[in-house]
Amino acid sequence: MTITPQATVPHLLKDSDLTPARILRLLDLAADLKQHHRSGTERQELSGRAFALIFEKPSTRTRSAFEIAAYQQGGTSTYIDSHSSHLGDTESVADTAQVLSRLYDGIAYRGYQQSRAESLAAAAAVPVFNALTDRWHPTQALADLLTIREHSLRPLSASSVCFAGDGNDNVAASLLVSGASLGVDVRIAAPEPLWPDADTLREANERADAVGGRRPTVTTDLREATAGVDFIYTDVWVSMGEPEGIWGDRVHQLLPYRVDRAVMEGTGNPATKFLHCLPSIHDGSTRVGARIADEFELVGAEVSDDVFRSSRSLVFDQAENRMHTIKAVLVDAARRVRGIG
Ligand code: CP
Ligand code: NVA
Repeated sequence: MTITPQATVPHLLKDSDLTPARILRLLDLAADLKQHHRSGTERQELSGRAFALIFEKPSTRTRSAFEIAAYQQGGTSTYIDSHSSHLGDTESVADTAQVLSRLYDGIAYRGYQQSRAESLAAAAAVPVFNALTDRWHPTQALADLLTIREHSLRPLSASSVCFAGDGNDNVAASLLVSGASLGVDVRIAAPEPLWPDADTLREANERADAVGGRRPTVTTDLREATAGVDFIYTDVWVSMGEPEGIWGDRVHQLLPYRVDRAVMEGTGNPATKFLHCLPSIHDGSTRVGARIADEFELVGAEVSDDVFRSSRSLVFDQAENRMHTIKAVLVDAARRVRGIG
């Protein structure tokens, strides 16, 4: 099991930066912060603190979650999109990291390459939080696990989740490693070319072994992977940064993994719930959804509209939990910088 040395700066660049104990601690902190926020007893631990949010890709949830989490904790944030800073154009990643470190208490980064997040962290004197890259989406996995813990009939270490679809994407990788760290039975149902890469799987296996959990299952057989499962999770079939031209191939490859009512009912577990990180192509109402409907005669891609809207769907609870878990990440990092975490 690889735990990246954090030196004195508590970066969160990928799921393997977190020990299982730290993941659990973040979930507990998020649950606590959520409860205090709801009951109007939130105590502000980020007052006077500022966060730079560098987003080179679009975002609804993650950006909002960082901004609102900082605000509710008494801090502030600056949103920097791909057109409004000098990053990459006339200013290097390293120079940007050094400048922002003089002004801010943390930097959230969403971008194309994981290597850029790592370069930013290497030059930053303040924590860098991965807000999604091509390889990892660690803050998503924290929200996923909090949602699973809230809605599972069993403890996390006895719960199961099947990710169906692009098993090699960022959301799947983070779920695999963070889920396995807590003993969750994680199953990936995907065509072979879209299986998780070997390093991610090795890390997940080692983490499962370390906590005595079941090693992740990776299979082409959706029915096998969903048998008795507590949660079925899917994500978009084409991720940000991938060319729109691959939609045809992905529809062909992933149609057998689409989550519809038959898949939900076929688990044999009447309590199976549905998860999705969002955004989702579940109908024809968006530009991409309309294109899929038009070109492939498919209304909704990775999930059918009826499953998305059903009472089994937890997608909006999951979306809300992005904020509570990101708040936990910011508060935890601030405590660690102060030497009390
Ligand atoms: N799930 C997620 O990361 O959503 P956004 O792209 O809206 O941030
Ligand atoms: N895999 C998706 C996740 C979006 C939150 C993407 O990277 O676009």
